[in-house]
Amino acid sequence: MTDQGTATTSTASSIRGSLTNSGTGGRGVAVVTGASSGIGAASAAALAAAGFSVVLGARRGDRLAEVARRTGGRAFVLDVTDSDSVASLATEVPDVALLVACAGGAYGVDPVAQADAADWSRMYEVNVLGTQRVVRALMPALLTGDGGHVVTIGSTAGHSAYAGGGGYCGAKAALSSLTRALRLELNGRPVRVTEIAPGMVATEEFSLNRYGGDRARADAVYAGVERPLTAGDVAACVVFAAALPSHVDVDLLVVRPVAQADNVTVARHPLRVGE
Ligand SMILES: NC(=O)c1ccc[n+]([C@@H]2O[C@H](COP(=O)([O-])OP(=O)(O)OC[C@H]3O[C@@H](n4cnc5c(N)ncnc54)[C@H](OP(=O)(O)O)[C@@H]3O)[C@@H](O)[C@H]2O)c1
Repeated sequence: MTDQGTATTSTASSIRGSLTNSGTGGRGVAVVTGASSGIGAASAAALAAAGFSVVLGARRGDRLAEVARRTGGRAFVLDVTDSDSVASLATEVPDVALLVACAGGAYGVDPVAQADAADWSRMYEVNVLGTQRVVRALMPALLTGDGGHVVTIGSTAGHSAYAGGGGYCGAKAALSSLTRALRLELNGRPVRVTEIAPGMVATEEFSLNRYGGDRARADAVYAGVERPLTAGDVAACVVFAAALPSHVDVDLLVVRPVAQADNVTVARHPLRVGE
């Protein structure tokens, strides 16, 4: 067990009592992975405001606790690449109305012929296998009560490849396939399955992680783009899909800023899109 796994155990005992009566937020329990920053943190906040009782999962307990304090949700230190950590989460949430599988990211932009396989393994581990582990562990809880909803945060990268995106595009394509297979497998059960596939979202850490901490290269991704999507914009899509009546399944929601027509066609000049 890693240090992070140890932290999971102590965090688990602190939330156990408060989650056995799920639905205290009115709409039931929403588990959000990758909730310590960016889209996950914004989704946790928006879901809490929409009446869900939110459980926030990610590895960095300090950041998670800070987000949980702001949203009123509960923090659970979680590593989706660690089966014990994921199993520990599952024991804490017996009834889950909504899972937002947001933990993920991109590591590297090297061409296929030069890429480091370790970066690719990391992307598959967190984006694909991490999602599969969490879906598998929480499925009994999603099938409890009035049924549940799985929302995966994919990417337009998973729908169309671009140079330098081989690893990330492949991982998000696999996540998209996982999501579609899951919908087929759950047909006849009361569980909705949604993929939200954002284009360019200016979050604090995504590009920084992708470029190995190189701030100048990370900032260049958004240079000149008038109003890339924000984490809050994607969170609004999550709430939209979740708040529809429970017989309405949004299969796939692709969302981009107006300045972006596809993964590589991006206007980098003022558009006057307004507020
Ligand atoms: N930003 C974009 O342009 C964009 C576009 C399309 C899709 N997306 C997708 O949206 C999701 C969120 O991205 P973001 O922009 O919000 O970036 P971000 O701020 O870097 O969010 C990534 C989140 O995943 C968590 N995470 C990473 N590894 C994890 C692990 N092993 N176990 C648990 N949590 C883990 C991180 O928290 P810890 O480090 O604390 O664990 C963090 O909270 C990702 O799946 C990303 O691929 C982003």
